Amino acid sequence: MVIFKKVVDIQSFMLQNRAAGRTVAFIPTMGALHSGHTALVAAAKRDGHMTVASIFVNPTQFNDKADFQKYPTSVDADIAMLTATGCDVLFLPPVDEVYPQGTDSMPVYEFGYLDTVLEGARRPGHFKGVGQVVARLLDIVKPDKLYMGQKDYQQCMVVRNLLQQTGSHAEMIINPTVREADGLAMSSRNRRLTEPQRALAGIIYQCLVSIQAKGQQGGDFKIVQKECEDLLIDKGFKPEYIALADADTLELLDNYDNNRKTVALIAAWLGDIRLIDNMPVNG
Ligand code: PAF
Repeated sequence: MVIFKKVVDIQSFMLQNRAAGRTVAFIPTMGALHSGHTALVAAAKRDGHMTVASIFVNPTQFNDKADFQKYPTSVDADIAMLTATGCDVLFLPPVDEVYPQGTDSMPVYEFGYLDTVLEGARRPGHFKGVGQVVARLLDIVKPDKLYMGQKDYQQCMVVRNLLQQTGSHAEMIINPTVREADGLAMSSRNRRLTEPQRALAGIIYQCLVSIQAKGQQGGDFKIVQKECEDLLIDKGFKPEYIALADADTLELLDNYDNNRKTVALIAAWLGDIRLIDNMPVNG
């Protein structure tokens, strides 16, 4: 795996590879890699692309300073994992390579409704930061494919919207969420869970499974929502939202609707760790 830290260097390398006719798949990450990330690299390789991963903990997408300061890093282990998965290129830039003129002069992308619900409502400025960094990284790497994980469902929708706004030709490929044995969605933040917290964390998945199962009969989502809320609170979580939404627009729904594709989404705190997850309900 070739590692680049400077924009000029990766750009000239990519230019040569594109000239040689290689299609490029890009996997942006913030490091602290797990099997969810390597599954994206493996999928891109299986699809026959040259794989470029980035590791950059983007300061502009953290609405909570403490979350940024505590964000786990493990660059050496990350490099070993990417190498073992056969990743071709790693872009590992310092902040001043990504934002050489600071962030004030960077374009700001608006995501409308998507930035006002669920994650958008709870993490003001988060998606603007994601939009800013992904636009910059896409401009540097110029990939043909962009591989992202379904675990960050709303982020995938935001980035899809960003691709349209920037006119990027990259096609987004969304990979299913990779889960631990008890169903907990893999996430870099999981490594901050204490042992007792880790033993409880799979309850979010159980809630999603029950929301999905009860959706078969249709009816009032609020009843299931309340059951999940009570269970999570009882086990020591602080739920932020337990939602049912249209899978294409994220319009929030009070009732199951088997005439459209829907998705269940949960965000809940366990101690000072915020966990999110989602599951398609139908469609
Ligand atoms: O999902 C992430 O790790 C980040 O939000 C991303 C897409 C790499 C942008 O910093």
